Amino acid sequence: MCGIIGITKNKPDKIGHEIFDALTRLEYRGYDSVGMALISSDGISVLKDKGNINDVGHRLNFKEIMGSTAIGHSRWATHGPPNQINAHPHSSNNGKVVVIHNGIIENFMEIKSQLIRDGFTFISQTDTEVIPHYLSKLLDEGKTMYDAIVSLTQLIKGTYALVIASTTEPNRIYALKKDNPLVIGITDNEMYCASDIPAFLPFTRDVVILRDNELAILEPGKFQIKLIPSGKEIKRKPHEISWTAEAAQKGGFPHFMLKEIHSQPEVMKTQLKTQDDVFSKFVQHINQSNKVVLVAAGTAHYASLVAYHTIPEFSGKIVVPCIASEWETVSHIIDSNSVVIAVSQSGETLDTIKAIKDAKKKGAKILSVVNVTGSTLTTISDEVIYIHSGPEIGVAATKTFTSTALAIWRIAKELAISNGKLSEDELEEFTQAIERMPEAVKYMVAHSEAKSRDLAKWFATKKSAFYLGRGAGHIIALEGALKMKEISYVHAEAYPGGESKHGPIALVEDDYPVVFAIPNDNTRVKMMGSVQEMSARGAITIGVIEEGDEEMKEVLSHYFEVPRGFSRFCSTIPYSIPMQLMAYYTSCAKDYDPDKPRNLAKSVTVE
Ligand code: F6R
Repeated sequence: MCGIIGITKNKPDKIGHEIFDALTRLEYRGYDSVGMALISSDGISVLKDKGNINDVGHRLNFKEIMGSTAIGHSRWATHGPPNQINAHPHSSNNGKVVVIHNGIIENFMEIKSQLIRDGFTFISQTDTEVIPHYLSKLLDEGKTMYDAIVSLTQLIKGTYALVIASTTEPNRIYALKKDNPLVIGITDNEMYCASDIPAFLPFTRDVVILRDNELAILEPGKFQIKLIPSGKEIKRKPHEISWTAEAAQKGGFPHFMLKEIHSQPEVMKTQLKTQDDVFSKFVQHINQSNKVVLVAAGTAHYASLVAYHTIPEFSGKIVVPCIASEWETVSHIIDSNSVVIAVSQSGETLDTIKAIKDAKKKGAKILSVVNVTGSTLTTISDEVIYIHSGPEIGVAATKTFTSTALAIWRIAKELAISNGKLSEDELEEFTQAIERMPEAVKYMVAHSEAKSRDLAKWFATKKSAFYLGRGAGHIIALEGALKMKEISYVHAEAYPGGESKHGPIALVEDDYPVVFAIPNDNTRVKMMGSVQEMSARGAITIGVIEEGDEEMKEVLSHYFEVPRGFSRFCSTIPYSIPMQLMAYYTSCAKDYDPDKPRNLAKSVTVE
C-alpha cells in the first residue's frame, strides 16, 4: 500500500521522468491517487491527482519536470476519500516543507486541533497533513530539521514510512521508518529512497534496508543513518541485489500474474537450493515448545495451514492456526514455551507484525517464513526461512503461495525425521515429492493452461461457485476460491467436503460450478461421495485429481490430472496450479486486469 520514492541528484536531470517510472514500478502495491513534488531553494511545486499513474503522470506532465530533488507517492486512501486534495505530497502552509507518508498517524486529531489553535490551516482530511505543519512550526522556532523530526517522533503515535524535504535544504531528503518499509538505493551521484527495491532497481543494486526508528539523511552520493531519538549513528553496509529490473517486469507475458504462474518451476528450483539445516532450526524450536501458533493473513494464512495439517502428525504438538487480524483471541495462550510461526510474503502485513510483537513480549520464539529480504517481520524474528520467490508484482499471490507451501512441507519433513514418524519408504516418497516439485509444477502449468482457458469462458458467466476438499485438499480449495474471487469477482467459497452438506449444498442447482481438489490420499473415497452429491443436484463438477484416477474421471464433468507421487506429501502445490490458471483466465475472459484487482493492495500495512 502507498508507494514512496525520493530522489536526490548532484545536478538537474529529468527527475519527473524517473519519479513517474519508479511509481509505475510500485503500482503493484495498490493505490488510488498519485503525486510528486519538486524541491528547490526557490520553492516546492506539487503535482497530484486521483487516478492511475499513467493518466495522472501524463495529464500533469511529470515527465517534463527537470530538477535535482523530488519525491513521489502513490496513495491508498485511509483518512479521507481518494481525491486531488487528499493525494500526497502534503506541504506546510508556508510552502517550505513537503511530506509523503505510508502508514497511519493514530493521534492526528489531537495534533491537528492544537495546530489549528496555533493558526495553521488544514486543506486535506488526511492524518499526514499534521506532519508538514508541525515541522514548519518547529523550523520557524529555530530548530534544525533533524531536531524537528526527533520532536515529531515523540509526538506522533502510529505507523509510518515518511519522506520529508524542505526548501531550506533543497538537496536533502529525510527518510524515517517505523512499521512500514523503506529502503535506500545508493550511487556515486544520486541517492534514492523507496517503499520497495524495484522502484530504483534500473539505477542501482546497492541497497540499505532501514529498520524501525531509523532516520536516513540522504544527499547526492552520500547518506547517514541515525537511530531516533538517541541520534546514535548506525553504520550499515549496502548489500547487492542479485535479481534484475527485468525480473520485475512482465518478460513477454500479458500480465505479471501469468508470468509468475509460469515462473513457479524456477522458483521451486531456487527454493530447493536452501539447505535442510535451515529447516532443522525450526524443528528444534518446535520440538522444544509446548504448542505452535501460526499467524498470517490471506493466501499466507492458507499456506500456513500446511503446518496445521502436518506438525501435529510429525511432532504430536498442538497447533493453533490464527488469522493475523484475529490475534487477540489466541494471544492469551502464548507463553515463553510457545513457538509462533509467522508467514508473510511481504513481511510487512501490519496485523501479522503486531501479533508477532505481542508474542515476542510474552517470550514466545518467533519463526517466520518470508519472501522479502530485510522486511520488518524478518528484523523481529528469532529465525527466518526465506522462500526466495523474487519480487511478486501481481497483487494475487501465486508463486509465493506454492513456494511458501514447499518451505513448510520441508519443515514437516525434517520434523518427521527428527521424531522418527515416517517409515523409510514414506520418507523416500516425501523426499521424491519435494525433489520432483519443479518438474511436476512445470507439467501442471503446461497441461492445464488450454483447459483452464476453455473452462474460464463458462466460469465467466457464473456469479458464484463452491470449492471443496478435505485435509490438504481443503487448503487447495481455500486458496483456489480466494484466487477466483479476488481477480474475477466470482463469489467463490471453499468448504471442507464434509461440511458442504451442512448448508452450502442448498445453493446448488443446474449448471452450478463446484471445483474439487482430490489428491489420492485418505480423503479420496469421501470426496468421491461429495462429487456425486453435487452432480446429483445438477452441478458442473471440475476436479483436480491424480493421474489415472479412472473412477473419478467418470463422475466428474471436467478434470485436470496431477502426476502420481504427490498425494500423501506436498499435494498443496501441484494441485493448486489449475486453480490459479482458471482464476487468471476467468479474469481475462471478463476483461478485468488480473494484476490489479479492485480494492486490493499487495501489502496490507494498516490494521
Ligand atoms: C491473496 C493475497 C493476500 C496476501 C495477504 C498477506 O492473493 O495476496 O491475501 O496473501 O495480504 O500478505 P503477506 O503474505 O504479504 O503477509
